[in-house]
Amino acid sequence: MAKKVLNIKVDLHTHLLPGVDDGAKNREEALAMLRGMTDAGIQHLYLTPHIRSSHFPNTPASLLPVFEGFQQAVAQAGIDVRLDLCAEYYMDAAFQTAIQAETPLLCFPGNYLLVEISMHQEPLFLFETLFDIQNRGYKLILAHPERYPFYWKKMEIYHKLRHAGCLLQVNLFSFIGYYGKEVKATVELLHKNRLIDLIATDIHHVNQVELLSDGAIWKLLDTIEVKNNQFL
Ligand SMILES: [Fe+2]
Repeated sequence: MAKKVLNIKVDLHTHLLPGVDDGAKNREEALAMLRGMTDAGIQHLYLTPHIRSSHFPNTPASLLPVFEGFQQAVAQAGIDVRLDLCAEYYMDAAFQTAIQAETPLLCFPGNYLLVEISMHQEPLFLFETLFDIQNRGYKLILAHPERYPFYWKKMEIYHKLRHAGCLLQVNLFSFIGYYGKEVKATVELLHKNRLIDLIATDIHHVNQVELLSDGAIWKLLDTIEVKNNQFL
């Protein structure tokens, strides 16, 4: 019987670049994660380390040499996969300053930026900020919208975000309750309301690789259409 693989070929959100955030701790862990993901059918990964001034003060210049070294290690290990360096930007004051100063940022093709907001506090001027960023020529992907407790059950916010031009990227493991029942209920509601644009793993640890073989994930991915493969 042919091996069953994910119908999503590109993962747009991974914390696989070793030693730069709360993801893979070292090259060995990162390579083990990468093997598991390619075995599941993922052919192309965007490495998206956190850029957050208070916890992970990464910059494109600090990340690039780590990325190049990791790419060499992947080639030496004989893993056939395409890797690109991108980032997950935390929308803090430093990010807004970088936007206003027109500092070069790590973008996906099409000038898309992956952004996250605080999980504890609703941002005061979210739509104004989104509008400002887009006015500067960027397009936005909001990471794990189902994980912000202040938006749970408020489908009107998600509609408004998409209407404002923001793509909604949910986490694959939210569907199997990895982050708790409220997050699962919210992602199911987003799915029901056809508000999901992209699905990503947001993988941080090697022990999450085995979740890719969860039967519920297979079933789900047969029922949902996303735009991931346009980023291949
Ligand atoms: Fe993330």
